[in-house]
Amino acid sequence: MKYILAPSILAADFKELGKEIARTEENGAEYLHFDVMDGMFVPSISFGMPVLASIRSGTDQFMDAHLMVEEPIRYVEAFQKAGADQVTVHLEACKEVEETLRKIRELTMKVGLSICPDTEVSKLLPYLEMVDMVLIMSVHPGFGGQSFIPASLDKIRELRAEISKTGREIDIQVDGGIYLHNVKEVLDAGANIIVAGSAVFRGDAGENTRRFMEILREY
Ligand code: DX5
Ligand code: ZN
Repeated sequence: MKYILAPSILAADFKELGKEIARTEENGAEYLHFDVMDGMFVPSISFGMPVLASIRSGTDQFMDAHLMVEEPIRYVEAFQKAGADQVTVHLEACKEVEETLRKIRELTMKVGLSICPDTEVSKLLPYLEMVDMVLIMSVHPGFGGQSFIPASLDKIRELRAEISKTGREIDIQVDGGIYLHNVKEVLDAGANIIVAGSAVFRGDAGENTRRFMEILREY
């Protein structure tokens, strides 16, 4: 299994965005995590397709659009056109989960499905065969800089056991409150894609990325 760091640009200094992202890429971050908030599914509003398209022109990183948006099926095609490599939607936000996942696949992107901290792992099991990645939210979505919810570790373990039964390789991504001091617990529980916003972009993004990569390379 591959272990990957996905810096969340939500915590970046937007006036220096291109440079900040380049610092993560140079230091080994293969993914970029792109938090889209609609002010409905979550209280806040972040950024959308034009920003992703602009970033696309300056990086080779794999871009995952985490859509914290009601009825995300409405925007799947727009994010593909903007240059996303993967679209991750929330189970709780979709009226038709299967149709939404199928649409992402049809547009030849990788398929991600996410659950909030209050949603049980059992709810997403019916869709496992349709996804490349499951995102376990370890904070309530909507804001960066929150504390990791410890009960997420049991959810990661439960999901990893269920994935093993399928015989398929499905990534487990975890998002929210992950820092250098607790990332090993998340990896040990069975996650292989680590989202980090504050822990990467508060301070020196290059140095922070390098430190995360040192840990990830031990796995
Ligand atoms: C929260 C977002 C996260 C956020 C993580 O709703 O989905 O991706 O940027 O930020 P940190 O790492 O600061 O918790
Ligand atoms: Zn996110």
